[in-house]
Amino acid sequence: MVESKNSFYNTSKVTKTISVTSGKGGVGKSTITANMAVQLAKQGKKVLVMDGDFGMANLDIMFGVSTNLSIESVLLGQKELREVICEVSSNIHLIPGGSGVYSLNRMSMFQKRFLMDQVSKLEGVYDYLLIDTAPGIDDDVLYLNSAAGEVYIVLTPDPASVIDSYALIKVLNQKYKEVKFSIVTNCVRDEKESVRLFRAISDMAEKELLVHLKYLGHVPQDSQLRNAVKSRKLVSEIYPRCPSSLSLQKLAKKLSDFNGIEERSGGMQFFWSQMLNVA
Ligand SMILES: Nc1ncnc2c1ncn2[C@@H]1O[C@H](COP(=O)(O)OP(=O)(O)OP(=O)(O)O)[C@@H](O)[C@H]1O
Ligand SMILES: [Mg+2]
Repeated sequence: MVESKNSFYNTSKVTKTISVTSGKGGVGKSTITANMAVQLAKQGKKVLVMDGDFGMANLDIMFGVSTNLSIESVLLGQKELREVICEVSSNIHLIPGGSGVYSLNRMSMFQKRFLMDQVSKLEGVYDYLLIDTAPGIDDDVLYLNSAAGEVYIVLTPDPASVIDSYALIKVLNQKYKEVKFSIVTNCVRDEKESVRLFRAISDMAEKELLVHLKYLGHVPQDSQLRNAVKSRKLVSEIYPRCPSSLSLQKLAKKLSDFNGIEERSGGMQFFWSQMLNVA
């Protein structure tokens, strides 16, 4: 549990909320989320990472910590949010995910309101809330994505990844009126392949749906990233100069350099109220 007297809590800012998601599983969402957090923290940003996989959480392991705490106990009203938030690295806090079959649909309005009360205490603390989702189009994935200020879709060269991400974009557009999506490619050979992938999905989506896709960049296929995963470390920490770390650094820099006006309401409370549908 992170104490409120921690200097971490002495600031006031509008938290930028970003979900990292995909249609198909195993494309690198958790890897990208965790490493982006490390890169942002290196720039002095305060980051809260949420493991939005309520069934098969693994971000705690990626950060090299093991915890029995989980968001599930918060959603069930057994613990307060701040009790499960753990510090996983300097400037990075984690809300661990679950390992059961929990769904946001099962929360009562009382539980939701109680949780919103706790979320209000986190307002102004973090620069970023990064939400790593489960893959696919289950309700909870859709709630998390529709609540986030920005949706990052992770794509790989596998054709199934493009098709499934298109399906996710389509559902988010048709059911939740989402119109803006950002694309990050992973496991590509080079920028050329990355741009080709982006074009494949943006041509299809912009032709069929009223959406706009923004290209953010790519993370190359990298054996050092795989080695880092095997040794339960984050590549940005142990091989900071390898190709994937440099790409992740570039992505994080692009994110923190962007000073444009928020087009949607950001902020911690906005995210949670949308996610819980108590707006
Ligand atoms: N750029 C890369 N280069 C090499 N290997 C990678 C790269 N990105 C991810 N991987 C490998 O792919 C595996 C899956 O990554 P990760 O767990 O981040 O995917 P995910 O999208 O979060 O999966 P899930 O949908 O199951 O949550 C990792 O174990 C890692 O070894
Ligand atoms: Mg994952």
